[in-house]
Order: sequence, then C-alpha cells, then structure tokens
Amino acid sequence: MPKKRKSKAKHKQILVLHGPNLNMLGKREKNIYGKISLEVINNDLKKLAKELNIELCIYQSNIEGELVNFIQEASRNGTCGILINPAAYTHTSVAIRDALLAVKLPTVEVHLSNIYKREEFRHKSLIAPVAIGQITGFGKDSYLLGLMALTKTLK
Ligand code: DQA
Repeated sequence: MPKKRKSKAKHKQILVLHGPNLNMLGKREKNIYGKISLEVINNDLKKLAKELNIELCIYQSNIEGELVNFIQEASRNGTCGILINPAAYTHTSVAIRDALLAVKLPTVEVHLSNIYKREEFRHKSLIAPVAIGQITGFGKDSYLLGLMALTKTLK
C-alpha cells in the first residue's frame, strides 16, 4: 500500500497588485522611484513570503478594470488579504475602492514615494479609507513592511 503523505496545512494566500506604470520602475522618474525594477520588488516579496509562510499571487496592470477583476477574483479563490499599490489610480479610482469594499478582504495600501510630500493631487487617496492602513515613502521597503503588517493582521 502506498504511504500516506502527511497533509500539509495550506498556506494563507495574499494578492499583490501593482497599478499603472509600475512595470516601468527602474526606467521612470528614477529621482522619485529609484533604480529598482518591479522584478526586484517581486523577488524580495517572494523571499519574505517564504519566511512568513504565506503564498503570493502577484499581478501588475495598467488597466483599471483589470485591477477590479483581480480584486473580484480574489474573493472567489480563497485569498485572505490584498497588498496594493494602486499607483495613479490611488487618487482617482472609485471603481477600485468599490471593488475592495465589495470583497471585504483586509487590504494594505503601499506607495514607494511619500505621496504627502508631493503634488497636492497626490495627497488624496480614495483607497486609504477602505484599507486597514497605508505605508508610504519607504521605497521597496513600503511593500515589505506592508506585507509584514498584513500578515500579522491575518494571523
Ligand atoms: C505611487 C504614487 C502615485 O502618486 C503615482 O501615481 C505612482 C506611484 C508610489 O508608489 O509612490 O505611480 O503609487
């Protein structure tokens, strides 16, 4: 008879969403966003996820509706929480805010730059009032701190 495998506890799954133009990191406005590419951020997030014993699903999109679709899908596939940098949609997207309200998944908003130190139109986030919290201004570390905070909240 084949040996029974010990059943492994399923890891918590977190959705990581990157909004528009974040695929251009390392090339766009390096004075603000630094030289680091999105791939480096994603790799560091994956390393941290291993340490935290969680699973990540990572997507980037330049399209608002696609981001909404990813959020809606998260509510159907067992995702426990969302880490999101909505990028420019932070300041404009009622659709992303409504999607987060609809799925009711704990969400942490992150930004590479300190949005409150920049142009006035960036000071307003439509997402922050529906998130657990916001981490802004620590570059790549905003994502890592955000993932740690979200994971702690989920445990
Ligand atoms: C950003 C800040 C936004 O205002 C901007 O539109 C971005 C990036 C950040 O990570 O600092 O694209 O979300």
